[in-house]
Amino acid sequence: MVDKPRVVLGVSGGIAAYKACELLRRFSESGHDVHVVPTASALHFVGAATWSALSGNPVSTEVWDRVEEVPHVRIGQHADLVVVAPATADMLAKAAHGLADDLLTNTLLTARCPVVFAPAMHTEMWEHPATQENVATLRRRGAVVVEPAVGRLTGADTGKGRLPDPVEIFEVCRRVLARGVQAPDLQGRHVVVSAGGTREPLDPVRFLGNRSSGKQGYALARTAAARGARVTLIAANTALPDPAGVDVVPVGTAVQLREAVLKAAADADAVVMAAAVADFRPAVYVAGKIKKKDDQEPAPVALVRNPDILAEISAERARPAQIVVGFAAETDDVLANGRAKLARKGCDLLVVNEVGERRTFGSEENEAVVLGADGSETPVPHGPKEALADVVWDLVAARLG
Ligand code: CTP
Repeated sequence: MVDKPRVVLGVSGGIAAYKACELLRRFSESGHDVHVVPTASALHFVGAATWSALSGNPVSTEVWDRVEEVPHVRIGQHADLVVVAPATADMLAKAAHGLADDLLTNTLLTARCPVVFAPAMHTEMWEHPATQENVATLRRRGAVVVEPAVGRLTGADTGKGRLPDPVEIFEVCRRVLARGVQAPDLQGRHVVVSAGGTREPLDPVRFLGNRSSGKQGYALARTAAARGARVTLIAANTALPDPAGVDVVPVGTAVQLREAVLKAAADADAVVMAAAVADFRPAVYVAGKIKKKDDQEPAPVALVRNPDILAEISAERARPAQIVVGFAAETDDVLANGRAKLARKGCDLLVVNEVGERRTFGSEENEAVVLGADGSETPVPHGPKEALADVVWDLVAARLG
């Protein structure tokens, strides 16, 4: 029998504690053994009975329960992952300074496994230099601190500080667990990923578009966040939930995508163009809906070229050591076309995959070859889009040095 991965779910005292119940259920239902360690303040929001019933394990907040089992050391030592969700400003401060006045803070000091913090608090508390310095300290020590989401906070406030969707926090944890004890190698890096497919409007109700779902780009964003990167995801017409800790910029057309990518790329260490960008757009946009006329043949649609964003950012790197990655969807002569495209676009890496009616678009899996401008060729066997994403980040991380 294979041991279940052991997860410690630390819960600190914020209203978002109720969302941690969903996170706990995700872990339990996918075969993890979860020990919930709430702080005393967390129990004001969700009681011990809930944590115990959902996890199937005893719950305590203090080091004084079952002292003979030395819980303040044992729980941390045996964990494969510790995730603190929500992490309050107070909890981040305690963790950054190594305080140990309850079971959770003791566990954080004894854990040798990866640690994920998912902070949630009011915007002012998140932006306070004390909190920001504590977050920087924790990240420098190798913890993954997920950026809070922007949106409705407790009361009437809106801003940055919401706990991301627990389903997406679970995804980050799953990726971190899969990487084991490897350090988050994109810590301190800013990466930009474009995803989805552009739509070029003909009139207010019609557009020229493509079948890209955005799943590969979202997998790239998720995996980069789990590897510690600050991630900007430029999302063209996707219908996918925002990945936890990722700054999502929605766009529609190729021209809007170009603007958003150039802006985000200004301080980026790497740019990955996974979006399917329309090469052409209608020459004119008709302000009112185009009507059919029974006595007339339809007029042909005149097209003009869209800017080639990948070629542009490759030629004019915003930073000298910036790594640029392109994608190529090919139906024939996949490798030869890929090599030619890599040279034409001037990027460092090109992920080439074969597409067809039932391949790649909208599916959960992918198969590709990553070509390097240095002549390298990395085949990625058929598998989850996240596996391909991790190979891309391995190659990017190696080039960033
Ligand atoms: N791309 C881009 N801007 C465009 C078109 C494409 O940045 N106007 C990027 C895509 O995001 C992708 C890569 O270029 O990373 C390859 O796109 P593809 O459409 O396959 O390349 P093309 O040069 O358009 O070649 P072709 O259509 O002839 O296959």
